Amino acid sequence: MYILGIESSCDDTSASVLHNNQLVSNVIASQLVHAQYGGVVPELASRAHQQNIIPVVDIALKKANISMSKLSAISFTRGPGLLGSLLVGNSFAKAAAYALKIPLIAVDHLEGHVLAHFIKNETDSYPFFPFLCLLVSGGHTQIMLVKDFFETEIIGTTIDDAAGEAFDKAAKILGFPYPGGPHIDKLAQTGNPDAFTFNQANIQGYDYSFSGLKTSFLYVLRDYLKTNPSFIEENKADICASIQKAIIESLMKKLKKAADDLQIKEIAIAGGVSANLGLQNTLKKTANEKKWNIYIPPLELTTDNAAMIGIAGYYKYLRKDFADIYTVPYTKAIY
Ligand code: KG4
Ligand code: ZN
Repeated sequence: MYILGIESSCDDTSASVLHNNQLVSNVIASQLVHAQYGGVVPELASRAHQQNIIPVVDIALKKANISMSKLSAISFTRGPGLLGSLLVGNSFAKAAAYALKIPLIAVDHLEGHVLAHFIKNETDSYPFFPFLCLLVSGGHTQIMLVKDFFETEIIGTTIDDAAGEAFDKAAKILGFPYPGGPHIDKLAQTGNPDAFTFNQANIQGYDYSFSGLKTSFLYVLRDYLKTNPSFIEENKADICASIQKAIIESLMKKLKKAADDLQIKEIAIAGGVSANLGLQNTLKKTANEKKWNIYIPPLELTTDNAAMIGIAGYYKYLRKDFADIYTVPYTKAIY
């Protein structure tokens, strides 16, 4: 069967075609308009989705070399996300499924990130249930206990900023354009991670907090800048490596605790920040020490994409878990 996946929850308009669990095409139109504002502007995002959605679907179908009439179902991101952005994907998917008389499948964005690990891969290696998934993106930072395809419990979450926000805010202070996470990642590779230390949060359980780290980052830099106005430019790589180390240490501490407490050795990461090379290397090192089986998504499946919505749609299709045209989006996480 062929499934068309649609993702429009934030600032990426994406469409994908899957043949069963195999990815055939995955087209992502990233919206550059937000860079000049230093973050996503919701109204501009929904307008850009409206402009992009039809060409993006068209290209995804052409790349897959199929016509719309071959589709078995359409899956779309129902939420969470920005309402105006979600409405574009929701409306498109509903109209197309109605016109084609094929099932409509509503997918949760977070479940999509997790289920991206079940897209067919070369080595046919997929996480075994139950597994832990560290979902780290611009909007979310969660430790998810995944018991089955659609049976997920969030055991830890951020009480303030998401990990991606921590990267992006630090990057903004350093003068990088939005989103700054990839810039920090790149420069960190040539820097010394032990050059500077920043205060990390120390909170109970498996929850996260990044707002204190951001403040500490700001204050440490402010103090150095008092005596040396070129401090940032002269030490950029070391600063990037040091803040990246602090974020990764915070993430790994709770992930290790959850894995130890629950005695789970199947560990996945997902979301935009899972593209971070420092995080991936630390995860690999920890996996060696703790004998974890780890699952890291390929780069194009880390940040927002419709392939993950397509695979979630495939598994919902097998369960005949269909939505109707009265389905409305939701903006907040539903767990
Ligand atoms: O999953 P995603 O595309 O969107 C959300 O659902 O939020 O994640 C975007 C986030 C941004 O904060 C971006 O800076 C961060 O992922 N990101 C990275 C890297 N690539 C993307 N952060 C650190 N290192 C990276 N290589
Ligand atoms: Zn996302």
